[in-house]
Amino acid sequence: MDQRYWDRVASDYDGEIFDSFTSDRTGVLVRRLETFADRSAPAADAGCGVGKYLPFLAPRFARVDAYDLSGELLKQARTAAGRFENIRYFKRNFASPSATVFPVRFALCANVLIMADTAIREAVLRSVARMVERGGHAIFLIPSVESALLAHHRLMEWHRQDGLSPAEASRASIAPAAKAGRRLADGLVPIDGVPTKHFLREEAAVFFRRGGFAPLQFDKVEYGWETEFESPPDWMQAPFPWDWLVTTKRL
Ligand SMILES: C[S@@+](CC[C@H](N)C(=O)[O-])C[C@H]1O[C@@H](n2cnc3c(N)ncnc32)[C@H](O)[C@@H]1O
Repeated sequence: MDQRYWDRVASDYDGEIFDSFTSDRTGVLVRRLETFADRSAPAADAGCGVGKYLPFLAPRFARVDAYDLSGELLKQARTAAGRFENIRYFKRNFASPSATVFPVRFALCANVLIMADTAIREAVLRSVARMVERGGHAIFLIPSVESALLAHHRLMEWHRQDGLSPAEASRASIAPAAKAGRRLADGLVPIDGVPTKHFLREEAAVFFRRGGFAPLQFDKVEYGWETEFESPPDWMQAPFPWDWLVTTKRL
């Protein structure tokens, strides 16, 4: 998941990368973000991608600093949010301790802390910590291990509804789980074949606190089952898969 990876993703971003902002079933993302809206303060979108959140953030803050590792994705973000004059765009690698960042009272960091390498993930979090002023807030969206396991159980349930015995259903569902294999213990679940970091809620609390952010609240951002399976059956309803939305205060 280096710059080359993200530049390559840019050619088919919507086909490859899931849109958390529009897929949120309950609107909790917007409700949490609204809590921090302040027309007199600057904010940041740390790892903005193609800028899905920028049209929401720009009218609610004095200025928005949109950062990303990928020049190709930033180009698309500029086009998508071109009508807003209060957005500044910065190509930065947050894994670098010398990446220049500018102080803000609030930062959003949505599905950026997903790289498999722990040292890189911690370095990226440190860069976000450098930009948020003490006492300011940050909202992080991160994949959930619990949700990935729920998806596995749902797949078994699906096989059983199709008439398989519990043992057969378990065997039929094991292939996707086996792909994760031993790395599941590290929270690494393959998404489209790419090992992607998923967090336990309790693990995330420790991770953010160690990175200089006190977790204030955990919310589930729930999505439909079609984000996990192609053509899920109608009976497959709640509980839905989710990402963790972590509201934090900079220590
Ligand atoms: C899954 S996308 C999420 C984009 C956007 N936040 C959203 O939710 O739509 C992850 C983004 O993180 C960016 N990213 C990954 N590693 C980074 C790094 N080391 N420094 C800055 N941005 C990074 C990628 O380029 C990509 O745009």
